[in-house]
Amino acid sequence: MNLTGRTILITGGTSGIGLALAEAFHQRGNQVIIAGRRQALLDEITAAHPGMHGHQIDMRDSAAITGLAEHVEALFPDLDMLVNNAGISQLEAWDEDTIDIDTSLATIETNILGVLRLTAALLPTISRQPSATILTTTSGLAFVPRSNYATYCASKAFLHSWLQSLRHQLRRKSIEVIELTPPYVQTQLAGPQQANDPAAMPLADYIAEVIALLDEPAPADGEILVERVKALRTAERRGVYREVFASLNPA
Ligand SMILES: NC(=O)c1ccc[n+]([C@@H]2O[C@H](COP(=O)([O-])OP(=O)(O)OC[C@H]3O[C@@H](n4cnc5c(N)ncnc54)[C@H](OP(=O)(O)O)[C@@H]3O)[C@@H](O)[C@H]2O)c1
Repeated sequence: MNLTGRTILITGGTSGIGLALAEAFHQRGNQVIIAGRRQALLDEITAAHPGMHGHQIDMRDSAAITGLAEHVEALFPDLDMLVNNAGISQLEAWDEDTIDIDTSLATIETNILGVLRLTAALLPTISRQPSATILTTTSGLAFVPRSNYATYCASKAFLHSWLQSLRHQLRRKSIEVIELTPPYVQTQLAGPQQANDPAAMPLADYIAEVIALLDEPAPADGEILVERVKALRTAERRGVYREVFASLNPA
């Protein structure tokens, strides 16, 4: 994939994987627009990276997504790469007397509806470019779930399926549809402790491996898989799904 001279919108660009990708893309001379809810972080990050642009948005707000697409079309009509990366991951207990359904709904709204709405809103802009990329962050947990993050894992499995259909439908346009499938990475996705969890992959290592893979021609299946995530991605194919599920979900 060409990773220079592009115009790239990254949702979830205020922290973690999205911010690290934004910095890597910006360093390579791309026009980068980051989006997220935290205005203070948007200000701080764009001040530290001259030329980078920030846009505040709550991906659960469909009107705001329409507004973002209009803003991009007006200011960045050359947008040729959308990175659907914003996501939340929260614990769920479906075995308690009272189920916190709001957590599940927020996860679906952010991780699924936000991605579908923004992709739909920006496809007219993206489709106009000679070539373009839609890159969407799923998870290794799309392939083997951790039961205490039930809706999170299901949301990523949804995206994995949806991306295959999107890729097929867009095959005659010059739009590549890429799935970024992280393993467990040191960010604050599930809380501050995750950023220092030795079981998680260091963020810089993850981004370096991803950028190296993105520098190569996109694989036919569109999946960007670092070595660490392959155990999850291939568990069923290798006939070890039950064992891997059990290791993630102790009895
Ligand atoms: N870290 C991992 O282990 C791991 C593994 C597999 C997949 N992933 C995926 O990687 C992506 C990035 O996560 P991360 O690990 O980098 O965690 P993170 O640092 O918590 O990043 C999540 C990003 O999403 C944004 N976001 C969340 N809810 C939003 C909303 N309603 N509206 C707009 N932006 C919202 C956050 O920005 P604001 O708070 O500023 O809105 C933040 O920039 C997610 O899709 C996640 O599922 C991560």
